[in-house]
Amino acid sequence: MTAAFDLHADGAPPADPLDLARSWLPADDDPDRPQVVLSTVGEDGCPDARTVLLSGVDGSGFAFHTSRGSRKVAQLAAVPRASMTVLWPGFTRQLVLRGPVVAEEAGPLTRAWSARSDHLRRLAWLNTDELAAQDLAARRLGWAADVPVDAGSTPAPSWVGFRLRPVELTFWAGGADTASRRLRYVRQDDGWRWQHLAG
Ligand SMILES: Cc1cc2nc3c(=O)[nH]c(=O)nc-3n(C[C@H](O)[C@H](O)[C@H](O)COP(=O)(O)O)c2cc1C
Repeated sequence: MTAAFDLHADGAPPADPLDLARSWLPADDDPDRPQVVLSTVGEDGCPDARTVLLSGVDGSGFAFHTSRGSRKVAQLAAVPRASMTVLWPGFTRQLVLRGPVVAEEAGPLTRAWSARSDHLRRLAWLNTDELAAQDLAARRLGWAADVPVDAGSTPAPSWVGFRLRPVELTFWAGGADTASRRLRYVRQDDGWRWQHLAG
């Protein structure tokens, strides 16, 4: 059995890092989504970062969803690579991913939309720079605006999804009674190589 603060049970770690990631993270249908820091390369070459929700994890990558007109989408169009830092649960485990990012296809996008809360779906329809520039009373009025009746099943046109397909995953675990440590997996032509590192 794996102690809550350790990387994995004693012995060799799982051969596939996605198996370890899935054992660390909540199931995709758990409404308690991890908040992750998504780092991209700015158009000026300077790193950029922001928090997003991790929508889910499967063989095609680590999914997140956002607004088509956002800065991160423009940055990913120019440099389709990113890093994700997942701190989950807080203070005991961290997972850092690096790799290419691809746009999500229509099927998974619609499923992810249906799993979003009403509040987050409303945000995707209504959250604009124009609304953000108004005073509080006007923003409350704007928030009360109608959204399309099929809003529960049809993603807002502005809503897009991406998947980070990691080529490197670094798991970190720390506890009070021994040193923190890391486990880094790097993808090779013939599978994954892993190595334990100081934390
Ligand atoms: C806890 C938290 C969760 C967030 N989740 C998302 C999200 O899932 N998708 C998203 O586009 N923005 C999310 N945001 C807002 C982003 O951090 C960011 O402000 C926005 O996406 C614009 O980023 P950009 O201009 O760098 O593209 C979240 C912010 C916080 C604080």
